[in-house]
Amino acid sequence: MNVRTIIEPFRIKSVESVKFTTREDRVAALHDAGYNVFRLRADDVLIDLLTDSGTGAMSAMQWSAIMQADESYAGSRSFYRFEHVVRDLTGFRYIIPTHQGRAAERILFHTVLQPGHIVPNNNHFDTTRANIEVEQAEALDLVIPEGRIPHLIHPFKGNIDLAALDRLLVEKGDRIPLVMVTITNNSGGGQPVSLENLRGVRAICDAHHKPFFLDACRFAENAWFIKLREPEYADWTPKQIAQEMFSLADGCTMSAKKDGLANIGGFLAMNNAGWAEAARNLLILTEGFPTYGGLAGYDLEAVARGLEEVVEESYLRYRIRSTEYLGEKLIAADVPIIRPPGGHAIYLDARALLPHVSPLQYPGISLVNQLYVEAGIRGVEIGTVMFGMQSDGTESPGAMDLVRLAIPRRVYTQSHIDYVAEAVIEVAAHRASLGAYRIVSAPKVLRHFTATFEPLP
Ligand code: F0G
Repeated sequence: MNVRTIIEPFRIKSVESVKFTTREDRVAALHDAGYNVFRLRADDVLIDLLTDSGTGAMSAMQWSAIMQADESYAGSRSFYRFEHVVRDLTGFRYIIPTHQGRAAERILFHTVLQPGHIVPNNNHFDTTRANIEVEQAEALDLVIPEGRIPHLIHPFKGNIDLAALDRLLVEKGDRIPLVMVTITNNSGGGQPVSLENLRGVRAICDAHHKPFFLDACRFAENAWFIKLREPEYADWTPKQIAQEMFSLADGCTMSAKKDGLANIGGFLAMNNAGWAEAARNLLILTEGFPTYGGLAGYDLEAVARGLEEVVEESYLRYRIRSTEYLGEKLIAADVPIIRPPGGHAIYLDARALLPHVSPLQYPGISLVNQLYVEAGIRGVEIGTVMFGMQSDGTESPGAMDLVRLAIPRRVYTQSHIDYVAEAVIEVAAHRASLGAYRIVSAPKVLRHFTATFEPLP
């Protein structure tokens, strides 16, 4: 039979109403929120594309695993199940649960970094960068040049620049305790990293005797892109590809709120016994005993089951295709986006769309706010507000000014996405009327979460 439609590989047995508001309501809500959509009440949002983190729908199997969890403080059965699933997937020896990804980052970096150290990565995400900088170390982005050009098509725009990495290790190797690669590259458009590139990183790390860690939040989406785009792996299962990716690394940080298909959770995993012991001691100080790491037994069960479901082919085919579907509609309407579409999100190129708003007047914020006012859609700026504040206190334009529309896993249907496409196209058609913003107040670190803004006249 010649039916080509890719359908949701699930049916829905529990639903949650969304609240419709008027444009007037939204104008008032945004004003009260200091023009920062992070400060809105979620009930005032119709379609929430702020993040794909912790916002997914869990399966009936995950909910039933939750009911079977063991809440023992130490040595819980749920921990051993979690550890078994993570070890089977990653192959790492030491598996340390944490309440989310940034806890794993904090513990790893506090364990291994000294002031003056440098951590290279394709692109650090915001919390990763902040957890490095708080140790007075430098987070250095070495994505390939193609990864910084939004409209340019390349199959693996998340790849790290191997020549630049090697040069850095030759010149400043004594200041580099580890190399990281983020799969998929969130700050760079949800773009994948090839196995060939990961092998290259491994070889360079071997030559310089450096450990290699993955920021593995979206490892399954990355594995699916490898299956589609790296011909040698076309017949491998996503799980086999994921196992191959992890086998090239010495450890990983993971937010299970993404490809763990859970609402909370994460882990730090590695092969180095000394680092693992130091990390566990830090864990006990702030997160909890090493067999729960700040999570309930039921969270560990949800993550364990989620990690099994996320590598299913039917899920990944639907997941990546549904993001691409939104991207194709926007490309067809000439809305500038990062191409090709990423795994978990579509990234609008606000700098290209609003050339009349200079980067230091925050074109990303302008676009995010208009999408909310016109359509009740919440996206997020990934640009000068998120990355423009330098550690010396000066401000400069981010590498790109993007608006990310992140798609929660298994939550929205095709008609929700059709509505989003229509709304974005409509807002883009009136781009000339979108104005500039200035910051009214902001904290020094991770300012995008809580800053307040004001439209300029
Ligand atoms: N690394 C990457 C690549 C991420 O995207 C995130 C979170 C983290 C680490 C931290 O994980 O939130 O569990 O502490 N990204 C979310 C986002 C918040 O919206 O992209 P966390």
